[in-house]
Amino acid sequence: MFPPLYCAPMAELSHRALRELIEDFGGCDEYFSEMLSAQAVLSGGRWESWYLDGGPDPARFVYQLTGTNCADIAAATAFLDTREAAGIDLNMGCSAPAITKTGAGAAWLCRPDEAARLVSAVRRKTSKRLSVKLRIGRTADFDQLVRFCKNLENEGADLIILHPRTSKEKFKRTVRWDYVVRLGAALRIPVVGNGDIDSVAVCMKRWNEGGVTALMLGRRAVKEPWIFTQIKGSAPPCINHEETMLRFLDLLERYQPPEFFVSRARRFFGYYCTNFTWGTWLVTQLCRETTHRKFAAVLAAYFAEHEDERSITVQ
Ligand SMILES: Cc1cc2nc3c(=O)[nH]c(=O)nc-3n(C[C@H](O)[C@H](O)[C@H](O)COP(=O)(O)O)c2cc1C
Repeated sequence: MFPPLYCAPMAELSHRALRELIEDFGGCDEYFSEMLSAQAVLSGGRWESWYLDGGPDPARFVYQLTGTNCADIAAATAFLDTREAAGIDLNMGCSAPAITKTGAGAAWLCRPDEAARLVSAVRRKTSKRLSVKLRIGRTADFDQLVRFCKNLENEGADLIILHPRTSKEKFKRTVRWDYVVRLGAALRIPVVGNGDIDSVAVCMKRWNEGGVTALMLGRRAVKEPWIFTQIKGSAPPCINHEETMLRFLDLLERYQPPEFFVSRARRFFGYYCTNFTWGTWLVTQLCRETTHRKFAAVLAAYFAEHEDERSITVQ
């Protein structure tokens, strides 16, 4: 049996264009939005219609909210509850200093009582599945993590998604997967595991270790948008990299505002180009350009020179 697979929330990456690209290769079970500021959702900022676009399939789309206080996040949840979605997710895992210094993201892990009140307040605003995505905590204290999550469970969380690193670790050390397995055994609600799943073999190993009801992949889904169907044995046999990158640029133009085109393309290139021997050089060349036509010209030149890298066979 294959695990249910979720595409992770990633700022400037988990937008509709990426979801459409992943769908081209067969898709995955759920897609999380990039983190959405509760305040921006409420104030209806200029870009919100793009951020809130749950396409291509809202029934498999989850809104992830970030914010610093219960009132804003609960109000944003009430607003999102009127839209079709598979669930609402609360971000208690982002450890970027710009986020934590405001009290959002992983900063919630230091405020267990308030985090429980947040889940309680949000629970009253939605009947959709309510998940919380988090890291272990400031330190790798398993008992504290269990206490924190049990509080959320008691207040009505339906699902915990654990990226088993501490909030200080960024991506440095390897994940503590045993925390995922043990948390799954300690809670009544299901647990989803996330972090460093970068191949079919690692994915199946994690799944067979037990404790989880699904697995979530982030960076690998940008580098290899076919990874989800590859895991399930149904990816296309051959991937043409140039066509894939050009298709992504088309999707960006269609599904993101023009003002986001260059920044989102660069974000994507940073991950996708690690597929190539001269990927660092290629990213540098691409990042000098600012138009679709010029990106395409850089790609054409690269693949003309490195014909052997144009396509790969997927088993
Ligand atoms: C560029 C980038 C942006 C991210 N943005 C978010 C975010 O908006 N919300 C969130 O909960 N996690 C975010 N994350 C963390 C991922 O969701 C995920 O937990 C992490 O990348 C580990 O999974 P992976 O090893 O499969 O990439 C981000 C990660 C990256 C690399």
